[in-house]
Amino acid sequence: MSATLVSLWTALRMRLEAAGVDSPATDARMLIEAGAGVSRLDIVTDPYRELSTVQLAAVEVLATRRAAREPIAYILGRKAFWNVELAVDPSVLIPRPETELLVETALELLPSDAPARVLDLGVGSGAILLSVLAERGLATGVGVDKSAEALAVAVANAASLGLDGRAQFSKADWAAGGRFDLGLSNPPYIRSADIVGLAPELRYEPRLALDGGEDGLDAYRAILNALPGLLAPLGAYAFEVGEGQADAVAAMAAAQGLTAMPHRRDLQGIARVVAGRGAG
Ligand SMILES: C[S@@+](CC[C@H](N)C(=O)[O-])C[C@H]1O[C@@H](n2cnc3c(N)ncnc32)[C@H](O)[C@@H]1O
Repeated sequence: MSATLVSLWTALRMRLEAAGVDSPATDARMLIEAGAGVSRLDIVTDPYRELSTVQLAAVEVLATRRAAREPIAYILGRKAFWNVELAVDPSVLIPRPETELLVETALELLPSDAPARVLDLGVGSGAILLSVLAERGLATGVGVDKSAEALAVAVANAASLGLDGRAQFSKADWAAGGRFDLGLSNPPYIRSADIVGLAPELRYEPRLALDGGEDGLDAYRAILNALPGLLAPLGAYAFEVGEGQADAVAAMAAAQGLTAMPHRRDLQGIARVVAGRGAG
């Protein structure tokens, strides 16, 4: 069967739409680009170009995966986040746009003209730590994760971004050696009982990256317990939180003697980042 770029794009868009995919047109185009080895410009400027049998077969393999609701980032093996492009695989959470608010907060808390030590607890792909280090040339950082597979992805991302000289990685359970000027975390915060009702794409992501326990707050309890011993005098902290969790997390931080700034809110007005400083 023959197909042109535009006929394949249309057919694939309809197939993904029927499968319940959120952004069928964009995903269909990206799968054609990756499978057939063509560019977006080719599709737009040469829509009636015929595809070979080999190209069609390659697109079909990717399309079948996406129609089964495997996330496009895992299929393509990459995800753009803040100012960096990251390799991702199913051992790491796919970095989310809302996490960019945590990066923004971190950059406000970090000096641009002095060295600083940054800690990222639950580093995953390295999204937060590596974005921050890319923006703060004098900073160094440590990324911690309980998953050795996730750490391997973060290590590779640090190297491909040329940040491996300033980033170290360590396998631990919400712990690190040393004292840090800024402690960051986007820990798992979904209530265990809510996970089953989430979009099918989340089934492909590691449970360790999503499950925050019965009330979604288990990781914050553990991290805040350890945090006072990890911050330098007047060190700062910033955490991403799930919807409705900010006040509870700020109260836990206060109970550990940490101060809190006003919550940072996303474009929908949801409090997304709890941040503050150590008691000094
Ligand atoms: C929500 S993901 C965040 C990943 C990445 N920082 C991001 O924002 O895209 C949480 C991360 O915490 C890690 N994690 C879960 N439990 C942990 C623990 N007890 N100690 C250290 N890391 C843990 C997971 O493996 C996962 O990489």
